[in-house]
Amino acid sequence: MTQQQAQLYEGKAKIVYVTDDPTRVIQYFKDDATAFDGKKKDTISGKGVINNRTSCHLFGILEQAGVKTHFVEKLSEREMLCRKLKIIPLEVVTRNVVAGSLSKRSGVAEGVALERPIVEFYYKRDDLGDPMLTEDHIAAFRIATEDEVHTLREAARKINQVLCKHMSERGLDLVDFKLEFGRDATGQILLGDEISPDTCRLWDSKTKEKLDKDRFRRDLGRIEESYQDAADRICGEARQ
Ligand code: TMP
Ligand code: ASP
Repeated sequence: MTQQQAQLYEGKAKIVYVTDDPTRVIQYFKDDATAFDGKKKDTISGKGVINNRTSCHLFGILEQAGVKTHFVEKLSEREMLCRKLKIIPLEVVTRNVVAGSLSKRSGVAEGVALERPIVEFYYKRDDLGDPMLTEDHIAAFRIATEDEVHTLREAARKINQVLCKHMSERGLDLVDFKLEFGRDATGQILLGDEISPDTCRLWDSKTKEKLDKDRFRRDLGRIEESYQDAADRICGEARQ
């Protein structure tokens, strides 16, 4: 059994610990919530437990579908054992429906379905406000090679297909979501981080009620209940 050891890194919603195996780390999920590059802060009671539960479940489903991820096993309510990665500092956002920053940037109303999914890249730099980058920027600044960007885009598309099917069978629209990838010691690119109501927009398919972090960002109330509802659906049986 891998023993939890020193803290390697503390982020806004998670802590990463080293283990006695140099190829493995533990992700610990906190209840802390931030938005707008850390300017809005609070805690959402029980969020860490929910986000670990949904992430472990979804990484398991993605692995079964042939997607390579950092997930090894769920260790406890708040802890996930992971393969150690060097995270590529990009937020890979995939969108199926217009919402959030795309609505602001394009002037298209929230809720309009896209003709085809869009994959976008943002530079993971809170101090710069996570600016959007093109593939040329990513290659020129040596954040990732052109081949790696191609791999990220294809992985995001595949993950979107698997997640859209899973969510729609549980009465949820997967509006958009953010992924992070990293390289293992051999340079292989794996999906890292988490997939949870913090990192996805999830709307009830019928009522379009928001069951995700927009309830926190936009002060919509019923935050804990909505996260719990999303988690129960994601980890539960298909409805149709
Ligand atoms: P956006 O519409 O604000 O660009 O967000 C797109 C998706 O990415 C949405 O599902 C929320 C998620 N996201 C994060 O997980 N972390 C972030 O820092 C941001 C800005 C968005
Ligand atoms: N978690 C991000 C931050 O604090 C933003 C977000 O998810 O809206 O910057």
